[in-house]
Amino acid sequence: MKIDPIRRIEELRTIIQEHDYNYFVLANPIVSDFTYDQLLKELIELEKKYPEYLTPDSPTQRVGSDISNEFDSVNHKIPMLSLSNTYSEDELIDFDRRVRDFAGEATTPDYICELKIDGVSISLQYENGILKTAATRGDGIIGEDVTNNIKTIRSIPLSVNKKFLKEFGSFNFEVRGEVYMENEDFKKMNDERELNGEKLFANPRNSTAGTIKLLDSKIVAKRPIKAFMYYYYSEYTKIGSQLENLLMLKKLGFRINANYKHCKTINDVIVFCKEWEERRNEIPFEIDGVVIKVNSINLQQNLGSIAKSPRWAVAYKFKAKQASTLLKKITWQVGRTGTLTPVAELEPIFLAGSTISRATLHNFDEIKRKDIREGDSVVIEKGGDVIPKVVSVDVSKRNKNLTETELPIRCPTCGSKLFKPENEVAIYCDNNFCPDQIKGRLIHFASRGAMDIEGLGESLINLFTEMKFLKDFADIYDLKNKRNELIEIERLGEKSVDNLLNAIDKSKNQQFEKVLFSLGIRYVGSGAAKKLAEHFISIDNLISATKEEIEGIYEIGPSISSSIIRFFKSKDNLKLIERLKKAGLNFNTSIAKGVNKFNGKSFVLTGTLSILTRDEAKEKIIYFGGKVSSSVSKLTDYVVVGENPGSKLDKAVKLGLKILTEEEFIEMIK
Ligand code: IVH
Repeated sequence: MKIDPIRRIEELRTIIQEHDYNYFVLANPIVSDFTYDQLLKELIELEKKYPEYLTPDSPTQRVGSDISNEFDSVNHKIPMLSLSNTYSEDELIDFDRRVRDFAGEATTPDYICELKIDGVSISLQYENGILKTAATRGDGIIGEDVTNNIKTIRSIPLSVNKKFLKEFGSFNFEVRGEVYMENEDFKKMNDERELNGEKLFANPRNSTAGTIKLLDSKIVAKRPIKAFMYYYYSEYTKIGSQLENLLMLKKLGFRINANYKHCKTINDVIVFCKEWEERRNEIPFEIDGVVIKVNSINLQQNLGSIAKSPRWAVAYKFKAKQASTLLKKITWQVGRTGTLTPVAELEPIFLAGSTISRATLHNFDEIKRKDIREGDSVVIEKGGDVIPKVVSVDVSKRNKNLTETELPIRCPTCGSKLFKPENEVAIYCDNNFCPDQIKGRLIHFASRGAMDIEGLGESLINLFTEMKFLKDFADIYDLKNKRNELIEIERLGEKSVDNLLNAIDKSKNQQFEKVLFSLGIRYVGSGAAKKLAEHFISIDNLISATKEEIEGIYEIGPSISSSIIRFFKSKDNLKLIERLKKAGLNFNTSIAKGVNKFNGKSFVLTGTLSILTRDEAKEKIIYFGGKVSSSVSKLTDYVVVGENPGSKLDKAVKLGLKILTEEEFIEMIK
């Protein structure tokens, strides 16, 4: 008997959807991975053969596509609010009092407590039961369209079970929830990244946020992100309470976190909060608190919201996670400007999603105040994404032989004598040629907000400085003459060397303000660099400027001006600038001055550009006084179209906007 392909396709979709639900929502798989893979493979092949039957809700659409994601803006139908925080029992009691006062004596409000998952919030729009759009929170009003990436999360139904349609009235609805990564998965992923020399994520939340904003959803599909949903909204479905809301989500096939509780009184709420503050380590993912929601939707609506947070819900935030460990050694790190920062080298310990082996000690005054000594047992803390810090010392465990920590006299790296300005807590290494300062300056120079040399990160800079390829910024631009030697380095190889050399070459297009910032002049941050570049137009003007002239610029004060004067007094620095000029870096803003040809004009970029990168195109537009916006509207002046443009092009055509090819755009920026 011949199988009808379309029926088989539909059948396979239903079966796979069912298996996804069992595995990812219920955590109760009923078939082996092998069987599952076979089914998926069969479906992929059938869809390849009959592409006309491919639908956006097919399970094959979860693997990610080759099309580079463009993050269009999405207007949230209902603003995505944030929660106000509470940190104590008293504040929870105040919250309850406010709700009660509002509700009046006749009503006794009850609450639903849910775990506050430490991830990234998302909003899903379903139309006719099919997932149409997934968006990030953004600023709460406008988010980014991350649909292709969210589709890779298997617990999120691409379409909901049609059998409930009658009961729900309509399948046009919105669902909100949290995307997150489990601690073990995060650790594994970071270990792999470390092995590959890639940048590590600080915690599971950061890595989730980074993942859902990746341009390539094929990579997203390989990352272990998960989701819990906590909110269902439809203007067609009447829901009486948050409890019903959660049950509704469950019924529709969404994954909800089972550790919620219906609390009749604020005391029950407090007990729940305390309980989970104690138990937070028992679950495989990070939670940073409890969310308390008024249960009655009616009362929720009456309470409404103030500014950015609702009056009907509040977050109870846990205290930062702490742990005790041994402080093995205090080392001193030399920064690019010579500042020495004490670092606690710790017996490694797992805390809040990652293993911690170092923590900052801020400065010497802090060490003295807390009397921190090598060999002490210390309490460390990690709150949110901040660098872990040493909170206190457990003096009861202190061995009598431990000696007080002393201020170093010489730089631990170069051995030169340190100095401590009278009014500052910091101590400095004053040797400009200190290897750590050199490394620090090079890292800053190549970093993203500066010359943005892709691939030239900390580990390569360490290697190149140790191998004496790099001593100063200008050496970076001489690396192209050492191509053969670089290829010989075991870790590198031809392809990565060429990529690096290309990235170095590309960095020569960075604007003057970026170049100025990259020089790493003390106190000259990106904002000051911009102001200086705009005012002085060229480096030569800045070099010959007096202290008074520099201070004449709005918001530029005496610390910045003295630092600039000191920097350009140095013959070495002037020589360095000459070499960078020869290498072809921009030391001039004059081309852009007075040529504000895009003044007030709004541009939208769509599709893949082949000559320029998106960032380059954006920079050029801004350079000439224009604006770049992410969505097309009547107010758009130009739409620059690359290969495989998205829906923005259709919209632009409909609105009759001016459309430019990449070549035409390049003509305009010459
Ligand atoms: S309710 C107005 N419930 O916490 C209601 N939020 O600022 C807002 N979150 O952005 C959300 N778990 O990302 C809610 N069970 C939960 C949550 C939760 C985590 C996050 C969410 C939101 C932030 C609150």
